[in-house]
Amino acid sequence: MSRRRQIYEGKAKILYEGPEPGTLVQYFKDDATAFNAQKKGQIAGKGVLNNRISEHIFKSLATIGVPTHFMRRLNMREQLIRQVEIVPIEVIVRNVAAGTLSKRLGIEEGTQLPRTIIEYCYKNDELGDPMVADEHIACFGWASQDEMNDIADMAIRINDFMCGMFSGIGIRLVDFKLEFGRLFDGDFSRIILADEISPDSCRLWDMKSNKKLDKDRFRQDLGDVAEAYQEIARRLGLLTNEDGEAGAVLDLDAHRNKKGK
Ligand code: C5P
Repeated sequence: MSRRRQIYEGKAKILYEGPEPGTLVQYFKDDATAFNAQKKGQIAGKGVLNNRISEHIFKSLATIGVPTHFMRRLNMREQLIRQVEIVPIEVIVRNVAAGTLSKRLGIEEGTQLPRTIIEYCYKNDELGDPMVADEHIACFGWASQDEMNDIADMAIRINDFMCGMFSGIGIRLVDFKLEFGRLFDGDFSRIILADEISPDSCRLWDMKSNKKLDKDRFRQDLGDVAEAYQEIARRLGLLTNEDGEAGAVLDLDAHRNKKGK
């Protein structure tokens, strides 16, 4: 695995060429960035936890018929995924006011929204991922109307499922970000869920205490960041190995960033 070709390095993940055509290996780093990479740091063990949490969520979504890029987890930090052409739109789903919505519109953080909101941002770091309307997406050809219909339908289904899943473990799903890609089959393509879903890309609050158990702990210097990610994994039942293998508990210290191993 040491001489794999690197396809792309993002802020929190690296993509390598996969073992078969049409596949990639997605490697989860411990690196954390916020505010369009103006703030940088490391969260020990984050990559291991996000790999596991994202695997769990993507597999669960597949069981309700949401097509995803996930194929299988390879090891503590890597998963095998289908290669897609990423749609350059970040899809943000909000149930509760927080983050940039609160800032932009002056709505107090924690206000339950009367209905779920879906926002779209154009994926462009130089421009700071600006929010765009459907008209911009159509006008600049970032996605077709059919593709956007599929994306919006899937985003709502994913939100319904995840709200239920997290409320079952005492967590309020405040908001989250999704990315989608085009999976090609000859001349045809279809939209599938890509990237990751983890405490890096969701706001997750404890229902009783409102404690933040997500990347806002890093963004806002709240401390205990790795512990919060671990708490999510623990409540999802991922800190013990379901297969019953020995050494079940994730030993985070033993799996700190081993980039490019
Ligand atoms: O910052 P904002 O309030 O717009 O973020 C909304 C949600 O989308 C948050 O859960 C945040 O973690 C996620 N997000 C993300 N990546 C981005 C922007 C937002 O994961 N580039």
